[in-house]
Amino acid sequence: MTGQTVLFTGASRGMGRCAAVELARLGAQVLLVGRNQARGAAAAEAIRATGGSAEFLRADMGDAAEVCALATAVLARRGPVHVLIHSAGGLLPADTRTHEGVDRGFAQNFLGAYLLTRLLEQRILASAPARVIAVGSGAHRLLKSADIDALIRPGIPQPQMGSHQRGSYQMRSYQTAKLAVTTWIYGLARRWAGRGVTANVLDPGIVKGKSGSEHFEGPAPMRILMSHVIPFFVAAGMEKGSQQYVRLAADPALASVSGTYFVSGTEKQQCSSPLSLDPAVQQRVDDAAEAWAAPFLPGS
Ligand SMILES: NC(=O)c1ccc[n+]([C@@H]2O[C@H](COP(=O)([O-])OP(=O)(O)OC[C@H]3O[C@@H](n4cnc5c(N)ncnc54)[C@H](OP(=O)(O)O)[C@@H]3O)[C@@H](O)[C@H]2O)c1
Repeated sequence: MTGQTVLFTGASRGMGRCAAVELARLGAQVLLVGRNQARGAAAAEAIRATGGSAEFLRADMGDAAEVCALATAVLARRGPVHVLIHSAGGLLPADTRTHEGVDRGFAQNFLGAYLLTRLLEQRILASAPARVIAVGSGAHRLLKSADIDALIRPGIPQPQMGSHQRGSYQMRSYQTAKLAVTTWIYGLARRWAGRGVTANVLDPGIVKGKSGSEHFEGPAPMRILMSHVIPFFVAAGMEKGSQQYVRLAADPALASVSGTYFVSGTEKQQCSSPLSLDPAVQQRVDDAAEAWAAPFLPGS
């Protein structure tokens, strides 16, 4: 990875941080992105302390203005972006809205990645060979239908939701965002075919991390299941989870593999839900995301 620049959202803790450390160890210059200044700065400092090259860029991927500022900062560096990894994500309290009224969970898990990629698209294409990796989730398979518009349209706050409703709201937002990430990446892979830039989805499986449990507001037994039982009995270690990121970013054997769904590091297109492979759903996701992003794009 020597000479390669990796822009990595969600690299201040969890699997992202582990993978960033390893990519820096392999020689990459890593630009870490996260919301929490202290945590992100400490992660970058830890990499530099071992001789690696790292810088922290603070941005909330659920906030369009912050995503635009992040893109401006990256473009101002004038250097290439060889690998863009979208790993920022997780649950947010139910029905939290962005300034534009969009569901904030959906924004941080999908729209922010979409906007950042749109703003950096020319730089990424000019950096070819390059790779875009978006972290999806097997949770998208639980969706039987997708109502993108309900999450993207300014909503009416629903303060009186009980814990059951709050938990299912959060899960629906998360699952829909991960479905959207998946279909969007397939479209990118098709659009960029032959241009030296690959786009793939990484579903890490169940890995120790806070993304699924920290803000979960469902009923208490479900909260215990998600924050204690699953991490203890089922989840893989963070290091193991992070190896998948490193493989997708660095393995020469994957240099021209694109539009693929990886589960725990293995190509498993059959684990991408029928909904995610439906051209009509793919088109709806792209149309909705592009319409949302349009006001933030240059020349708008
Ligand atoms: N762990 C699993 O079992 C699992 C399974 C399937 C998919 N995933 C996906 O894998 C990714 C990483 O999961 P993890 O469990 O390692 O997560 P984690 O330990 O909670 O770490 C999440 C990372 O994302 C950053 N982040 C979260 N929201 C952000 C935002 N709005 N803007 C900028 N940065 C943000 C966090 O930084 P700050 O807190 O500093 O903002 C942190 O660096 C997530 O996309 C998650 O949905 C995880």
